Amino acid sequence: MSWWKDGVVYQIYPRSFQDSNGDGIGDLQGIIDRLDYLNDGTEKSLGIDAIWLSPIYPSPMYDFGYDISDYESIDSTFGDLKIFQKLLKEAHKRKIKIIMDLVVNHTSHLHPWFLDSRSSKKSGKRDWYIWKDPVDGKEPNNFLATFGGKAWTFDEKTGQYYYHSFLTEQPDLNWRNPEVKEAIFKMIQFWLDMGVDGFRLDVVNLYYKDAQWRDNPSRIFKGIRPFDRMVHIYDRDQPEMHELLRDLRTLVDKKKDRMTVGEVMMDPPGKVEIPASYYGNNDELHMAFNFAFLYSFWGASNFKKVVDEWEAALGEDNWPNYTLSNHDFRRHITRYHTRKLDMERAKLTALMLLTLRGTPFLYYGEEIGMESERVPKKDLQDPLGITYWPFHPGRDSERKPMCWDGGKNGGFTTGNPWLPLYSEYENRNVKKMQEDPGSLWSFYRDIIHFRKKSKALKDGSIVTGIDSSEKVFYFTRAKGKEKYHIVMNFSSEDTPFNLPEDWIPKKVILDNYEPGIQDRTIVESRDIHLKPCHALLIEG
Ligand code: NOJ
Repeated sequence: MSWWKDGVVYQIYPRSFQDSNGDGIGDLQGIIDRLDYLNDGTEKSLGIDAIWLSPIYPSPMYDFGYDISDYESIDSTFGDLKIFQKLLKEAHKRKIKIIMDLVVNHTSHLHPWFLDSRSSKKSGKRDWYIWKDPVDGKEPNNFLATFGGKAWTFDEKTGQYYYHSFLTEQPDLNWRNPEVKEAIFKMIQFWLDMGVDGFRLDVVNLYYKDAQWRDNPSRIFKGIRPFDRMVHIYDRDQPEMHELLRDLRTLVDKKKDRMTVGEVMMDPPGKVEIPASYYGNNDELHMAFNFAFLYSFWGASNFKKVVDEWEAALGEDNWPNYTLSNHDFRRHITRYHTRKLDMERAKLTALMLLTLRGTPFLYYGEEIGMESERVPKKDLQDPLGITYWPFHPGRDSERKPMCWDGGKNGGFTTGNPWLPLYSEYENRNVKKMQEDPGSLWSFYRDIIHFRKKSKALKDGSIVTGIDSSEKVFYFTRAKGKEKYHIVMNFSSEDTPFNLPEDWIPKKVILDNYEPGIQDRTIVESRDIHLKPCHALLIEG
């Protein structure tokens, strides 16, 4: 089975993981120093199999690396190519794969390609970006930018507008120009040849816009951004993307064991058919993220629905993946916050994420229960938060420095951290939680290592169910003679649960109310009693 199917992926937001030089910003040497934390080959470490690195390329950082000014190098804040190669080598030594972020819907406005393109209408690179004449003295159409304002910026010098899906400082590439494709594919080859194992494709459904540049219809939607009051039928999900992805797949598959996973921008609550469509017939992306959990309210039936719909949408050939948190959304512990049961819920969701059929994507800090916390206006960094303050807190809240210990700056830096620390870092940090076998961290570690040894959990079938009170979501994973039942009480009350008739339970292996791997036989009765937000992994 390929590593990207049975492995656990851990997303690192490099600015916030570990600073090694005291400038208050995380860097690659910091990540190298923490590789043993992630996987040292023993059951003492977390045990993840792959790292997805948010962008580390040279960038003026208007969108913290999602605005790239050189695709074949490393930003000096993070290190250089030599240190990156060391990271690759050290990671591979520990059997950890490295997934890079590929941001090719747009570049930075300071990328030499764009500087050239905007220099003159006659520039050889003019058509590498999207330039249009004004229409009746105004923007060519009504498209809006995700981070606020129009998607068109007028360039005085050449008298035309250029298009940007995000900030003015992030001009969109023109994927209808074959030279763009050629240059980007060459760059991808550069990283593949260096030994990078995979790519996470930023906003993969935005590359192509309507060929006729028709206006998007408007609609009433209670999002605070005008962008959310538009039906995005002409600025995303255009049919041309599929052919491009088939070509990309051919390129990536030429090397052994490489992968792609695409971010598909969707309006909440998100139709799973859209990301599913980017798998093609297993000949486009290896995987596309399904963000349905990010939009789901707490509840057994809501969660079951996500799994059932995703499984149905993907069909037999395409491989699922799940994610609960990332650098763009409030962390799930915060989304599902409840006064008394935060940790139980965090453990329940960890058990679910790591035992569903598909690749689990973890977000740094979730293993210690870091919460999203509003960053005060004076400390705001994220352009989204700055534009929409105070209605949208921005994404700084979920990008705070990793909490390694209870000492100064949580062990993240000896300097001034670029974002304020998570306020609970003295209680929720790696060191403290590693010492406690009943902690959230230990629970993640226990599940990950148990999963490694289980064919059923990595590669087995899945059958889902819900009890009649719709409080308990359960599923069974099976392969050959191996079988596990995962039972999750989403209610905050004690809940009786009758084991389904066809289960022959042997023993409880994981229990979010008990530390460590269990060896508890269930024999007394088929009626079990679940505590509030209780989660069990039962051998069947
Ligand atoms: C999606 C990324 O996840 C987000 O962080 C970024 O701001 C936008 N794409 C623009 O690249």
